[in-house]
Amino acid sequence: MKSKKFLLNEDDMPKQWYNIAADLPTPMQPPMGPDGNPIKPEMLAPVFPGNLIEQEMSRERWIDIPEEVRDILRIWRPTPLIRATRLEEHLKTPARIYYKDESVSPAGSHKPNSAVPQAWYNKQFGIKKLTTETGAGQWGSAIAFASNLLGLECKVFMVRVSFDQKPFRKTLMQVWGAKCIASPSKETNAGREILKKMPDTPGSLGIAISEAIEEAVSDKTGKTRYTLGSVLNHVLLHQTVIGLEAKKQLTLAGEKKPDIVIGCAGGGSNFAGLSFPFISDKIHGEKIEVYPVESTTCPKMTRGPFTYDFGDTAQMTPLLAMYTLGHTFIPPPIHAGGLRYHGMAPLVSQCIVEGLASPRAYDQLKCYEAALLWARTEGSVCAPETSHAIACAIDEANKAKQEGKEKVILFNYSGHGLLDLTGYEKYMSGHLKELHLSEGELCESLEVIKNLPKAKKVKSGKW
Ligand SMILES: Cc1ncc(COP(=O)(O)O)c(C=O)c1O
Repeated sequence: MKSKKFLLNEDDMPKQWYNIAADLPTPMQPPMGPDGNPIKPEMLAPVFPGNLIEQEMSRERWIDIPEEVRDILRIWRPTPLIRATRLEEHLKTPARIYYKDESVSPAGSHKPNSAVPQAWYNKQFGIKKLTTETGAGQWGSAIAFASNLLGLECKVFMVRVSFDQKPFRKTLMQVWGAKCIASPSKETNAGREILKKMPDTPGSLGIAISEAIEEAVSDKTGKTRYTLGSVLNHVLLHQTVIGLEAKKQLTLAGEKKPDIVIGCAGGGSNFAGLSFPFISDKIHGEKIEVYPVESTTCPKMTRGPFTYDFGDTAQMTPLLAMYTLGHTFIPPPIHAGGLRYHGMAPLVSQCIVEGLASPRAYDQLKCYEAALLWARTEGSVCAPETSHAIACAIDEANKAKQEGKEKVILFNYSGHGLLDLTGYEKYMSGHLKELHLSEGELCESLEVIKNLPKAKKVKSGKW
């Protein structure tokens, strides 16, 4: 019998995070203020604690994981690496498909990997309350869980459409003692402004981020800070435990390296977490294909320009050099709420510019089809976001079959879908349709970035 699961001991859990910024062949373009000058760390101080700002700017290759953070991560880490033998047999592919199962965390996804250190660093800095946004509700649940363990207050602005589609995510946040409200809300200026113009808007991550930042910076006691579940360098850094563990586990499985690494990508954190340690190998000469997968309804990597844009709708964040659809873009209300973000992490964007990662986009119908095949072969019910990675893995396994090649495919199983059954129900009853962004919609949404500074596409030309 083929081995199914490759497990590590607690002691094998990484003791350091991997910072790809130290290894990228071309330098990152700095975040900028509205005046077009690079921002200084102190400008971020009302939003983030100093210790996380330091991490955000760090160019150190390895950063120690604090002992107390490792102790909490141990609740569910190391996560299993599992070989999708039953899917392989169904597809009759010579490919070997492995997935890193991040759905085993208390919140059901990879998000607690960063929620725990973010809450910990905030606490060290003397912060008492955290605010955040959440799309699908996975990040909100994760930060609620982490805040609770570390004794911090927590308030989550949840994108309206997900708030309505996934009511149990709100309950889960409340179970961990957090407050969760639908965004746009009447509690902030940003929310009220949007509601005045668009009372029936489904909301977006960009709007929810504006609300959460406003709530943090307007606390006069100075004891509230904002946390972000993706996009920023320090969030991607925290997620690298995924890829670092996966590397050891592939060795246990007798594999020298993966040929293909895949992750779904909303803001880029689970994709980066799995792929960055392998992209490091690619930088050092290994041949590995790396695919971040987005939704065709929110195609920033495959159809958006690489340029400076704000991370949020109300322009409260610095300007970031990234692939973007424009900060006011409101994607259709797909069930993969975590993929409804207008931009892509600057580190992932730079990997794409370099040719170290090659983005793909999948439509929701193809993804639900893949999710059902997955559930009916491997057994588990994946999050709608995760189904994008599965759809791509299936395509690659079929391609390997056509080519008669024994490829090793590794993908990130970023979360379970047990609180996302409405989407499955709609798919199975034929109520979902294929959705694409039209050229007209794309051009219109890019209007807002026309007058912002342009980012340079600097690449070494090696890939
Ligand atoms: C299960 C799951 N996968 C993927 C994502 C996308 O986020 P990221 O690109 O930061 O991994 C989310 C976001 O909410 C999610 O909940």
